[in-house]
Amino acid sequence: MKNMKIKEILMTEEEISGIVSCLADRINNDCKNCDKLTVICVLKGAAVFASDLIRKLSVPDVKVCFIKAESYGSAVESSGSVKINSYEPLEIQGEDVLIVEDIVDTGHTLSQLTAQLKKLRPRSLKVCTMFDKPTRRCTEFVPDYAGAEIPNEFIVGYGLDFDERYRNLPYVAVLDDCTE
Ligand code: IMP
Ligand code: MG
Repeated sequence: MKNMKIKEILMTEEEISGIVSCLADRINNDCKNCDKLTVICVLKGAAVFASDLIRKLSVPDVKVCFIKAESYGSAVESSGSVKINSYEPLEIQGEDVLIVEDIVDTGHTLSQLTAQLKKLRPRSLKVCTMFDKPTRRCTEFVPDYAGAEIPNEFIVGYGLDFDERYRNLPYVAVLDDCTE
């Protein structure tokens, strides 16, 4: 396995917490007339972010679902073909739905995911991502809420992994060049 070292801390725990609070304020403001919201957390990367975000939501009735989006493509870039795995039936017809994602890169995952979820006829469907890499986009996808723009670097921590490692870091870091 490749051995990677942390090169640089891009965002501290305190900075992350401030960004999550700003996102929650925006969502709460937009949802001030809603009494219900269904949050769909995209595993595994968004688990840490979603757990912080949902605790700051002021909508009276928040339902939380988990899905896994598997994308078939090369190891480094996702493809246009995304399979959704859900742990329970996704009953979102007529609901206000917020998809919570860790990072939007090419945009393939979320453009496919939103297209598939729209077929279940939610009342509204919005996407909140913690991180966004707009310079890497090769689709038209634009998230409704994006916490922080990330330069064209591979980041880990706060739920994001490299080869399933580093998800537990409370900060966000850039990895150094690989050594075999
Ligand atoms: P997209 O379909 O290219 O937008 O890819 C989105 C998925 O790729 C995210 O949900 C992450 O799982 C993964 N990803 C993209 N960039 C990074 C990164 O910098 N660090 C960790 N995972 C990433
Ligand atoms: Mg993800």
